[in-house]
Amino acid sequence: MTDQLSKKSQAWSARFSEPVDELVKRYTASVDFDRRLALFDIEASLAHAAMLESVGLIGADDLGAIRRGMAQIRGEIERGAFAWSVDLEDVHLNIEKRLTELVGEPGKRLHTARSRNDQVATDLRLWLRANIDDTLQLLASLQRALLDLAEANAGTILPGFTHLQVAQPITFGHHLLAYVEMFARDAERFAEVRSRTNRLPLGAAALAGTSYPIDRMHVARALGFEALCANSLDAVSDRDFAIEYCAAASLAMMHVSRLSEELVLWMSPRVGFIDLADRFCTGSSIMPQKKNPDVPELARGKTGRVYGHLVALLTLMKGQPLAYNKDNQEDKEPLFDTADTLGDTLRIFADLVGGIRVRPERMRAAAAEGFSTATDLADYLVRKGLAFRDAHEAVARAVRAAAERGVDLAELGVDTLRGFSPLVGDDVLEVLELDGSVASRDHPGGTAPARVRAAIAAHRARLAAAGA
Ligand code: ARG
Repeated sequence: MTDQLSKKSQAWSARFSEPVDELVKRYTASVDFDRRLALFDIEASLAHAAMLESVGLIGADDLGAIRRGMAQIRGEIERGAFAWSVDLEDVHLNIEKRLTELVGEPGKRLHTARSRNDQVATDLRLWLRANIDDTLQLLASLQRALLDLAEANAGTILPGFTHLQVAQPITFGHHLLAYVEMFARDAERFAEVRSRTNRLPLGAAALAGTSYPIDRMHVARALGFEALCANSLDAVSDRDFAIEYCAAASLAMMHVSRLSEELVLWMSPRVGFIDLADRFCTGSSIMPQKKNPDVPELARGKTGRVYGHLVALLTLMKGQPLAYNKDNQEDKEPLFDTADTLGDTLRIFADLVGGIRVRPERMRAAAAEGFSTATDLADYLVRKGLAFRDAHEAVARAVRAAAERGVDLAELGVDTLRGFSPLVGDDVLEVLELDGSVASRDHPGGTAPARVRAAIAAHRARLAAAGA
């Protein structure tokens, strides 16, 4: 028995009289997925070791040995030569065991004043912080791609919809800028999540802190944390930073999904507003004519998967008493998959948007249908002195007459239009024109091409100032 235990001994197995059941070992192990944290685990261990040395808890020679050993381990991991073992449960124990194999005694001193509970919370925050920095870059690339397309289409007219019915003419640039606003807010949210993530758990140890004279600020500075987690129980147990990340990711995916829905509609031959580059589409194995917008459809589908991860993490936390519980090991796979899904999606979409081919003639033709300038006619009558409600009614009657005859409002002619209101003058046909309609919406937030160009310039300046 002693032999059996020593061969495959866990760091904690001295307390136990029989080895862990094989299935239980696999059930409780996390090394298959938490090895993604390895380089952050090493970084945090080096900062911890340097602090232990600075307060005299380990010697300078111990620190030197730990640094040497960790450098070798990092190399092994990067080369794919590290022998991960499920017997050693998780990333932390795998690395610590290897360190001790390589450098002996100093490796055994590393875990002084530390627990895997504050260690894993630290690693996860470091990993997420780096991931958020990538996410912010990707969001900036996507915004830039949208701005480029918006700039090229600042004056391109298409119908704006409400209830998916033609409502009023707008510019395609303005439409795209709506998505830039959404992704800009997503970036703001991720920046806020980053700052709450960027706090140091180490020093909390298992849950109650430690009796050693540690210097937590030393570690925080070395790892670039903005602050310490102020309460040791909270530091090791809460995962709200991961939940917040998944919430922000869910919102960003929701925005991508809305854009996807529009791309699918716009690309339908029935609508034909745009074409996506072939590299983002697939064909059909049976119907030779098909070119399907698979990428936006998948993004729409993957949005549900990310929402699922958010709900998984919320549910994971809701029943946990203070402080650390093993439930928390289940935080990683949803978080990692959320980050992978969002990262791939944003990366692909920046490229996909850059490859959109616009068909302005189809957009304009669609805007000319559906009486999209009816509101402009009502506004014209108001400018001539009619109360808006009366103007609305007069135009509604005109629209009905035009629809019955199968013509648009301008085609009714000035004389017929005057039959619905004596205020109609010879200048009425101008207000029924698409270009005049969009140009007249000339205020901050409006669709006039000049406003679209100004908004694009403001967004570009914001992105440049953010260094993105
Ligand atoms: N693998 C664990 C996790 O992901 C590390 C912390 C384990 N701590 C413990 N006392 N069992 O949460």
